[in-house]
Amino acid sequence: MKVTIDDISIDVPPGTTILEAARMIGENVPPTMCYYSKLEGSGGKCRSCLVKVTKGSEKDPRPMPKLVASCRTNVMDGMEVKNTTSPEVLQARKSVTEFLLINHPIDCPVCDQAGECDLQDLSYEHGLSKSRYDFKKRIFDLIDIGENIQMHMTRCIMCYRCVMVADQLTPERVHGVLNRGEASEISTYIQKAIDNEFSGNMIDVCPVGALTDKTFRFKSRVWFTKPVYAHRDCKTCSGKVTLWYQGAEVLRVTGRKNKWHEVEEFICNDCRFHKKNTEDWVIESAATISRHSVISQNLNVYEKPVIHKKLQEKPKSE
Ligand code: SF4
Ligand code: FES
Repeated sequence: MKVTIDDISIDVPPGTTILEAARMIGENVPPTMCYYSKLEGSGGKCRSCLVKVTKGSEKDPRPMPKLVASCRTNVMDGMEVKNTTSPEVLQARKSVTEFLLINHPIDCPVCDQAGECDLQDLSYEHGLSKSRYDFKKRIFDLIDIGENIQMHMTRCIMCYRCVMVADQLTPERVHGVLNRGEASEISTYIQKAIDNEFSGNMIDVCPVGALTDKTFRFKSRVWFTKPVYAHRDCKTCSGKVTLWYQGAEVLRVTGRKNKWHEVEEFICNDCRFHKKNTEDWVIESAATISRHSVISQNLNVYEKPVIHKKLQEKPKSE
């Protein structure tokens, strides 16, 4: 099937969503706050991936009447889609960002997710510099969900990803979303699923700082750490991880994320929380970090003196 997104055409297999087609093209990819390719049934919650379908298909070229969620809309043969080339889409994305931030606290300076928060990235690109919301933000009491995961329900944007991790990676259905609208919360159910050996993956899939790693919390800003790929022979999971070093110390262990910020393979709690010595791992290489990430900016800091030195060595006549 042929689809054209922002004037770039690609052939994709039937059943491909507009979002996945955009990812195959690799340019002008809509942002995602709830879709996660590794979690079945994810998407359709946050609306940050809205696009405009200007031609439905070759057979029925009528445009779709409203903007559609690209993560939940399948491609039709001959479909034409506008993403960043549509002012309407960009305006809608601004509105969605503003909506997501209505209840989300702007506490990035004290949030452990800062530097790798998808909502932070979305608001830098599409957010307003101030809030127009006059009412009190939604507040929840802090709930202790165990020794490894810190839960801040006030930061939750109800993307359901952690609920899907609990559903798809743990054996019992002890999860879900309580209540509706502003009163929605996931905490009670998460609490019951937290002992499972794959529960730590909730931290990796959470797009904001609602679920963070207690064993790493407040130890360092993520951009002061150095990510390194490593593996070990693990009986429970693939054992393929990213180690986050500060000096010789492993401060954090996470799954490896691809360029869409999704983990490549889920890892077990033993690898994540209990293997924090270099001797536990076979080191592979420096991790690939997007050059747009603040983490990569800091890695460059170490290269700058070398560049400066080379410039200083240039002959004066040049
Ligand atoms: S806690 Fe995080 S992963 Fe879970 S629903 Fe809220 S934002 Fe999504
Ligand atoms: S990523 Fe498509 S609706 Fe959230």
